[in-house]
Amino acid sequence: MARSGTVAVIGAGFYGSTTAQRLAEYDLFDTVVLTDIIEGRPEGLALDMNQSRPVEGFETRVVGQTTGRDGSGYAAIAGSEIVVITAGLPRKPGMSRMDLLEVNGRIVRQVAENVAEYAPDAVVIVVSNPLDEMTALTQLATGFPRHRVMGQAGMLDTARFTNFVAEELAVPVSSVRTLTLGSHGDTMVPVPSACTVDGAPLTDLLPAGKIEELITRTRNGGAEVVALLKTGSAYYAPSAAAARMVRAVHQDSGAVLPVCAWLEGEYGISNVYLGVTAELGRSGVNRVAEIPLTAGELAQLRQAAQAVAAKQADVRNL
Ligand code: LAC
Repeated sequence: MARSGTVAVIGAGFYGSTTAQRLAEYDLFDTVVLTDIIEGRPEGLALDMNQSRPVEGFETRVVGQTTGRDGSGYAAIAGSEIVVITAGLPRKPGMSRMDLLEVNGRIVRQVAENVAEYAPDAVVIVVSNPLDEMTALTQLATGFPRHRVMGQAGMLDTARFTNFVAEELAVPVSSVRTLTLGSHGDTMVPVPSACTVDGAPLTDLLPAGKIEELITRTRNGGAEVVALLKTGSAYYAPSAAAARMVRAVHQDSGAVLPVCAWLEGEYGISNVYLGVTAELGRSGVNRVAEIPLTAGELAQLRQAAQAVAAKQADVRNL
């Protein structure tokens, strides 16, 4: 298999470390760099992951690197074609993602400035919460072109929705296609009109009330896991979603995926990072792929844009 390039994952919590592991196991990169500010943690995790290589059968090397707030250690991410920012605190039970705005804003700004300095050509995928705001902040702090900065949320929310539909109908997840747009939060916009099971419209297979129930569970999907774990938030599905985006960029695949991307007039919405479907390639977001929405879905998406735009304006001061 042809391996090439370096991808860096900033933050070696559960989300970051499982993302690094998935990326290493893809066996597509020469190197996965994993960094954290906790001394020794990324080095230890990298050592452990490398020792899984003979068993799992992949050759990608994982490099762990402790970083300092002053930027020390960041030289390890030099030359990365993609950087995934997972740094920041997860929610505690009862918290909304928005409660993390200030604390994670400070962390993400600092990380983004170091990414701009040490990996100036990278495509950046942000997963820190609150997602839409941290993506906007990363673009501001890096100064990167907007197509080179995107956020991961729609892949995860869509995966959750798909899983719930598959469980409800007792069908394989591979039969189900769902879609969520909008924010990674209260103004998430599930799109039932785009959901199918083996090609048949979901709206023909489940009563509206049941679909609404699954949508509510999807909207609260992260909080449901947080409440069960009691400490920390979800990471298996989130890391699968982030790694899949990385793969689409690395392979220049042109895959159309739900991501948090910058809008310039699509759906009549401008100047905001919001969850939409977009075509991904080597330069990041190639284009936002508009899909037909019902009038109600479009109205919800515009509402989400307004709510998110107001918060994204606030991140300038973080
Ligand atoms: C979630 C967090 C990671 O939705 O945003 O689980």
